[in-house]
Amino acid sequence: MITAERLALPYTDAVAAATEHLYAGVRRSVTRAEWELYAPYVARIETLKRERKAVVLAHHYQSQEIYRCVADIVGDSLTLAQAAAATPADTIVMCGVHFMAETAKLLNPAKTVLLPDLAAGCSLAESITAADVRALRAAYPGTPVVTYVNTSAAVKAESDVCCTSANAVAVVESLGARRVIFIPDQYLAAHVATKTSVEIVTWQGHCEVHERFTAAEIIELREMHPGIVVLAHPECPPGVLANADFVGSTTAMLAYVKERRPARVAMITECAMAGNLVDAFPEIEFMQPCNLCPHMRRITLPKILRALETMQPQIEIEPALAARARLAVERMTRVRRDAAPT
Ligand code: 13P
Ligand code: SF4
Repeated sequence: MITAERLALPYTDAVAAATEHLYAGVRRSVTRAEWELYAPYVARIETLKRERKAVVLAHHYQSQEIYRCVADIVGDSLTLAQAAAATPADTIVMCGVHFMAETAKLLNPAKTVLLPDLAAGCSLAESITAADVRALRAAYPGTPVVTYVNTSAAVKAESDVCCTSANAVAVVESLGARRVIFIPDQYLAAHVATKTSVEIVTWQGHCEVHERFTAAEIIELREMHPGIVVLAHPECPPGVLANADFVGSTTAMLAYVKERRPARVAMITECAMAGNLVDAFPEIEFMQPCNLCPHMRRITLPKILRALETMQPQIEIEPALAARARLAVERMTRVRRDAAPT
């Protein structure tokens, strides 16, 4: 994936020798010319990771050269939170967005958590504040608050429990309540409401990437490509989900592809997800939507390298607030994972 930055490190014989085995893993999706720009960074990052005793975590929406070449662990929001909780590494480099790095720091207060670009935000996290949550609690006294991890630590601190798209139904049902407040993603909340008898109170938050998909697009896709299997993320609007063959988190979509091996598949989610699977499943034809998350795209190889060189920017959370937010995240990690909330 082309970045806005100039990739300036030289591609030497030593770099070629150290990285050639990694190129094999991306050769279908990264051209040789692009690789010669990336490889010097990949080689340097690998060296610094060892020196710093660092682990690189990458979300499924990161671009191929990060996801397949420098990440030690890849996954959805839940997998990354669990990996952050379990890692013996001293330093965590989060290749994802701010709320993911904050979640890693909540679970590892003594460790250094680096986010290569602090401006990597999220429209869902921006859609709600701690004051909004307090107002919801006042409007629905005694109703527990289930908060999608795509939120700030301040919002998590006002919540009873967190969830991700992989475990949302299981978390809602784990509370044993007749009604829950489910924030901030209106579409994920609507989807969860179709899977449970628990009454769901929603908020008006949306993912700026998934909200752009429309039911008409999916219908047209099916007309143009008969037999195509459509997998959709539950952050998409209800009309999109109603026209999908399968609805699930990024990891659930990956599991579907691995197990069922459809000949032709459309991944109705952030564009990089399909790109990251092209090399792993050469026999499958992936239709890649062009909806990119501008926040995920802020993370680049030069910024990862700079973060490891300078050990900046680090995530810091005020300890009293972190303690309250941690409780909500830890409660989530104790709930059974519901791999396919469909
Ligand atoms: P999951 O990785 O939990 O499926 O969430 C998708 C997403 O939008 C993360 O930003
Ligand atoms: Fe947030 Fe959507 Fe980007 Fe995920 S894809 S980080 S939910 S804006």
